Amino acid sequence: MRGRFLVLEGPDGCGKSTQAGRLVARLAAAGRRPLHLREPGTTPVGERLRGLLLDPGRERWDPRTEALLFFAARSELLRAVVAPALAEGRDVVCERFTPSTLAYQGQTPELEAFVLALDALVVPPELQPDRVIVLDLAAREALGRAGDRSAADGFEARGTAFQERVRNGYRRYAEVRADHTLLIPVAGLDPDQVEQRIAAGLGLDPEAEA
Ligand code: TYD
Repeated sequence: MRGRFLVLEGPDGCGKSTQAGRLVARLAAAGRRPLHLREPGTTPVGERLRGLLLDPGRERWDPRTEALLFFAARSELLRAVVAPALAEGRDVVCERFTPSTLAYQGQTPELEAFVLALDALVVPPELQPDRVIVLDLAAREALGRAGDRSAADGFEARGTAFQERVRNGYRRYAEVRADHTLLIPVAGLDPDQVEQRIAAGLGLDPEAEA
């Protein structure tokens, strides 16, 4: 049986990595042999593109240029890593996927159409995520948390107005794709509570199953 492709999304500093780690541990405990991935990166070319894209010292590029590079990394990751793992019956937990490109590079109707066209070209229906979990947090709070970490990448450095558009992009995505998206407002929740909500939303909560 094919594994489940689960994507964790949300603005910089929303707690995605922590929750991805916890979800992976939960799936492992359930015997699912999960694979934990992040975008951009994981493959050799993906890591090189990550270095280019997230270099805080680079000049601004047109969002289409960024989107093409994120999708180049995505295409490689999908075919080299995600598809074989799913075919083996493993669950895949990926931090970020196309919803990130919509939120960060697709902030006008024209750019959104560009990103959706790339998604249709690069991600075939059988490799679309089964569930997208969006951790929703106001830009001001998310940036406060992201700021606690070491060096900010170029996207984190673009400021609150940009990050607020990112958040709105995610919320719009969750509305339009309500069929496969779980939107979790995380303000005021501790990591245990967020973990519980994700598990319940995915049907992985032992209490809910009992
Ligand atoms: P990362 O360090 O993974 O951020 P975080 O830990 O917050 O998830 O850096 C990824 C950065 O790249 C993040 O600022 C969002 C940005 N990004 C895009 O702009 N478009 C995309 O398609 C993806 C995948 C990421």
